[in-house]
Amino acid sequence: MNKIQLIFEKGYETTKNNFVPQMDIDEIPLTELLTSDNLRTDEINIPDIPEFEIVRHFTNLSQKNYAVDSGIYPLGSCTMKYNPRINEKTARLPHFANIHPLQEENEGAIELIYNLGKDLCEICGMDAFTLNPAAGAQGELTGILIFKKYFEVRGEKKTKIIVPDSAHGTNPASSVMAGFDIIEIKSDENGELPLDQLEFAMQEGDVAGLMLTNPNTVGMFDRNILQITEIVHKYGGLCYYDGANLNPILGMCRPGDMGFDIIHLNLHKTFSTPHGGGGPGAGPVGVKADLIPYLPCPQVISTEKGLACMDNEETTIGRLRSFWGNFGVLVRAYTYILALGAEGLRRAGQNAVLNANYLRVSLHEKYAVPYDRICMHEFVIDAHLPNGVNAEDVAKALLDRKLYAPTSYFPLIVHEALMVEPTETENKRELDRFIEAMLEIYEETINNPEHLKSGPHNLDVGRLDATLAARKPHLKD
Ligand SMILES: Cc1ncc(COP(=O)(O)O)c(C=O)c1O
Repeated sequence: MNKIQLIFEKGYETTKNNFVPQMDIDEIPLTELLTSDNLRTDEINIPDIPEFEIVRHFTNLSQKNYAVDSGIYPLGSCTMKYNPRINEKTARLPHFANIHPLQEENEGAIELIYNLGKDLCEICGMDAFTLNPAAGAQGELTGILIFKKYFEVRGEKKTKIIVPDSAHGTNPASSVMAGFDIIEIKSDENGELPLDQLEFAMQEGDVAGLMLTNPNTVGMFDRNILQITEIVHKYGGLCYYDGANLNPILGMCRPGDMGFDIIHLNLHKTFSTPHGGGGPGAGPVGVKADLIPYLPCPQVISTEKGLACMDNEETTIGRLRSFWGNFGVLVRAYTYILALGAEGLRRAGQNAVLNANYLRVSLHEKYAVPYDRICMHEFVIDAHLPNGVNAEDVAKALLDRKLYAPTSYFPLIVHEALMVEPTETENKRELDRFIEAMLEIYEETINNPEHLKSGPHNLDVGRLDATLAARKPHLKD
């Protein structure tokens, strides 16, 4: 295994050999610019390295990673779609990149926030959006706190939220964080929410409503969606739509029209902004008109004199994020929406569905697909394979073949889960490369299972203790 050298370890060995000549103007001593209590007293450990070596160091490091820009990244539930370069271009425009949230003249940024909110309202069928939350899960917490406030203001005591077992794991977590107990409902054999059980649960009386991931974590769009919202509303509940999986329904149907009161989106999934180590992301929350007063502050509103920033001090659930959220992410998502337009967004969703179904049908004879009907943007394989080969073995074998693995062991309702989400941007050649590798791996489960069980064989590291690696990562060697 190659030991990775840190840039700090490289620095002192190299000779000064930069192409940039030494500065020939007088430096102003820092002591003239800063008072002594602002000056550090210890040595600063900045390596003295020529520019080209720094570039090589970080380029080499970046190539140790697999990325969306390396090849197919079929990580189900994550929508690792290509991040178009035009998004980066606009986010780097000096008037966006160099503004400070406290400066007064930022009308352009405020207008962008307003316009993006309006576009999301149109796409989702909602009446207002806050763009402040910094991630999907933070959007969920925002939405559930709005649930809470709504019932508090009405003087109704509600303590429970219904969350199906096909929900994303953050759904029950966010509900509990907001102070609710969870009523879990098991999905039926089609991966859908049984209506009789929903009605039974709503009758408990102190139920605030339903939190539904749709399409859910097995890639199924619930065909009873209209009855679902009708039942919840009949008993005075609210309907929350986890819209992180909006990609496949873009331009086809709108959660607001299905009867949902609140939705959150993951801009870093559907709207092609980068995912990165837990952030920065954006999890905008949309609501129907009745719930607008509870949105977090600040909000951008349109007035007779133009756009204005507003704080609903009396009614808001408060502030969840400093300033306006991750503004650079908002610029990227807005660019994506404008670049694609209504027709482009619809086509993106349709292609995501087409690609997922192409993979599903190409693999389902060898790999069991428990919910084996037309899926949305993703589907789940149950990898109980010949000779005891399992999901982890398949995942490592894909890495060995210079491909990325699907999400493994999630969702929990499929025990050897491999959750495959190709996204719309993969072309047939790349999808076929993935299919070929999967079929080759299947052959190996019969001909050489031990080789699979001891993989990966072609990577810098072998099979790690996954829990330890996540909790105490050794990033260097
Ligand atoms: C359906 C769904 N809901 C919620 C989330 C949570 O979003 P985040 O990871 O941005 O907190 C995800 C994340 O991928 C998701 O797929």
